Amino acid sequence: MNLRLQFDTFHIDWDLVPEILREVGMGYHPAKTHEIAFNNSYAVVFVFDEENLIGFGRAISDGVCQAAIYDVAIRPAYQGKGIGKMVVRQLTERCSGCNFILYASPGKEPFYEKLRFRKMKTGMALFVDSEKKRERGFTE
Ligand SMILES: CC(C)(COP(=O)(O)OP(=O)(O)OC[C@H]1O[C@@H](n2cnc3c(N)ncnc32)[C@H](O)[C@@H]1OP(=O)(O)O)[C@@H](O)C(=O)NCCC(=O)NCCS
Repeated sequence: MNLRLQFDTFHIDWDLVPEILREVGMGYHPAKTHEIAFNNSYAVVFVFDEENLIGFGRAISDGVCQAAIYDVAIRPAYQGKGIGKMVVRQLTERCSGCNFILYASPGKEPFYEKLRFRKMKTGMALFVDSEKKRERGFTE
């Protein structure tokens, strides 16, 4: 493994983003939507092994108080090697001093608990696809 981190969106093959999200069982959109979402994010991390994109994550933020983490995904062959932890740490460092919120994929909460995230008692969400999100276990 020869890992390289990239903290901007230059020369990203956007078709790979929905492909990887689909591969790991997360929600995905047309490539252009991800391109806009990553470009409009406050902090982004892309992880490459040599020239191959193997994972990523992004945070939206005001840069001083509040931040939210989205789209943390590591290709299955690279999971369990500390790469996801590294992605989240890079995102939190890049929005230092901020509160962070996120909604974990159901079952992935322990990964974030290891990074000192705690379950929120009053978290509320207004999802575009609210019924689908409820079926997938994100809301009551
Ligand atoms: C969840 C995910 C990002 C974790 O990334 P990863 O590179 O596999 O995780 P790491 O190797 O960095 O693990 C860091 C720590 O969390 C633990 N961990 C990772 N996934 C876990 C899980 N599902 N349940 C419990 N613990 C987990 C690891 O054992 C490790 O513990 P350690 O620090 O004591 O050794 C990755 O598995 C993934 O992409 N999964 C599919 C997509 C997804 O669900 N993304 C999260 C969206 S909220």
